[in-house]
Amino acid sequence: MTRTRVLTLGGTSEARLLAAALERDSTVAVISSLAGRVAEPRLPPGRTRVGGFGGVDGLAGWLVDEQIDLLIDATHPFAATMSIAADSAARRIGVPLLRLSRPEWRAAPADRWHQVDSLREAAQLLPDLGSRVFLTTGRQGLAEFAHLDELWFLVRTIDPPAPPVPRAKELLLGRGPFSEHSERDLMLRYEIEVVVTKNSGGDATAAKLAAARSLGLPVVMVRRPRPPGGVTTVESVDAALEWVAGYQSGRPG
Ligand SMILES: NC(=O)c1ccc[n+]([C@@H]2O[C@H](COP(=O)([O-])OP(=O)(O)OC[C@H]3O[C@@H](n4cnc5c(N)ncnc54)[C@H](OP(=O)(O)O)[C@@H]3O)[C@@H](O)[C@H]2O)c1
Repeated sequence: MTRTRVLTLGGTSEARLLAAALERDSTVAVISSLAGRVAEPRLPPGRTRVGGFGGVDGLAGWLVDEQIDLLIDATHPFAATMSIAADSAARRIGVPLLRLSRPEWRAAPADRWHQVDSLREAAQLLPDLGSRVFLTTGRQGLAEFAHLDELWFLVRTIDPPAPPVPRAKELLLGRGPFSEHSERDLMLRYEIEVVVTKNSGGDATAAKLAAARSLGLPVVMVRRPRPPGGVTTVESVDAALEWVAGYQSGRPG
């Protein structure tokens, strides 16, 4: 029996869960790709490869060399460059592409969200909202906040960030899931006045939003970059598995 060869572009918990499910399926051979940004990544089961492909040409060549039948882009909603490259490479060589993207967070009535389109815009808004900031936008892009010397930052990342970073800060290393209780405690202990986050979606890091809501704190929410148009997109691992099964049965979804 010829197994369906699937490449998943990962770096998310959904990608790990998807790879685990595909790995259990004897009709599928799955390979997971990681960018290699995190020092100790949570590796999915099965075969993995780590590091960039070298742009669209590199990815297209890799898909051909590895005889990939199906490509699933399960990267983080803010990994825009990789998603665009996946779309271009898949179109070029005619490999079906699926995007697996977790739902966005939506504001509840009691939320005080300020939605912006970039980290730069978030930084511009901050001085009007508070002087003690909980910055949870990840390791990349902290340079946008480095000039805000009049503000104090609690910066939480998985791995230590590279400079430039804000001068007045405390660095907290941590990876979700976090509980609402612990997030609330943290915000109270550090006398946080405003929270900054990307709209990553998902349960693992949503507790900070509930904690900010209960404390009445404003949240600067960075909107997602626009994904490439025309790509079939699902929001759950189960739906992605159905898509794979649909191709295998000759009835693509
Ligand atoms: N951006 C975030 O906020 C965020 C948050 C959590 C996790 N992540 C994960 O971290 C990784 C990097 O994110 P990013 O925002 O830096 O991506 P990005 O800006 O979209 O991609 C930059 C380059 O990194 C390489 N790359 C990205 N994802 C890859 C993957 N899964 N496998 C192999 N190469 C990959 C590609 O290099 P080449 O051009 O050389 O192929 C890509 O052009 C992604 O896997 C993403 O899922 C990102």
